Amino acid sequence: MKATAIAPANIAFIKYWGKKDERLRLPANGSISVNLSNLQTITTVDFSADYQEDIVIINHKKDKKEATRVVEHLNRIRHLAGIKNRAMVVSQNNFPTATGLASSASGFAALTVAAASAASLNLSEKELTILARQGSGSACRSIPDGFVEWFEGKNNETSYAHSIFPADYWSIRIITITLAYESKEVGSSLGHKLALANPFFKTRLLRINEKIKRIKRLIKEKNFRQFGEMIEREALELHAIALTSDPPIIYWQPETVKIINLIRLWRKENLSAYFTIDAGPNIFLVCEEKNLNKLIAKLNKIKEIKKIIINSPSRGTRLISKHLF
Ligand code: PMV
Repeated sequence: MKATAIAPANIAFIKYWGKKDERLRLPANGSISVNLSNLQTITTVDFSADYQEDIVIINHKKDKKEATRVVEHLNRIRHLAGIKNRAMVVSQNNFPTATGLASSASGFAALTVAAASAASLNLSEKELTILARQGSGSACRSIPDGFVEWFEGKNNETSYAHSIFPADYWSIRIITITLAYESKEVGSSLGHKLALANPFFKTRLLRINEKIKRIKRLIKEKNFRQFGEMIEREALELHAIALTSDPPIIYWQPETVKIINLIRLWRKENLSAYFTIDAGPNIFLVCEEKNLNKLIAKLNKIKEIKKIIINSPSRGTRLISKHLF
């Protein structure tokens, strides 16, 4: 059987950093994110007795390293469905992977929904998020619509994601700012591991549930200023953990700091925008719709920026009828 799914990437406002169970990918804390309308992965999965082995083609290439993780995920799905057939998987991002924008969330969300359907598994959204989480933690947040909460949970069944507000609840814009660096940074897997041994990480965890409660309230009230201040502090906290890990991880580049400083300066000039940053040098600028054009004009003048992509909050992952093969 063949099925195809389209999945958005997501950006976290309260971050997932550190796992309390490596194998199940149970996070050390809950997290809050929004799906991004213009960073998407489309994946077609076909299970058939005709295939001698699993074939995985990502962005027109066979990639051995990625394929191992994909096959592990197919095995989870085969196990659940009680099937043995091998699969052909073809996956494409609508954004360049070399730009360093995390594709594992959209990739594993699309793979989960397409493969579960191709294997004739009839799973609820909650069950799909549980399955996606085991492939790549943050992928579970790309399945429900709009603004999403991932519950930390205590075990496999209780660590899942659900929508807290639909995509059209709040018309913020998220601009991904890609800097001229290839993605050579330390992957998030090692970062998650090192965080656990970092003494500052314990302090972060003491306050995290309070932060989750507060950010949900600020989104509900559409309180952009306080929301923006909070997401910046949260991103800085994640990088403070990375910087004080052993060995230290420095994700930023000089251009990252340059743009942080510019965003802070623009605020002084009454142009409101805030940043968040994941495990890499690129910046995600968050603004209200009314300020979008002014900000784009400013960003277009910065020569260190390689690419900008404007996103709105988006729906989650869904099946589509047009297959990639
Ligand atoms: O899903 P992973 O292992 O790539 O981890 C994602 C980690 C961050 O992007 C830095 C934070 C987050 O919550 O997405």
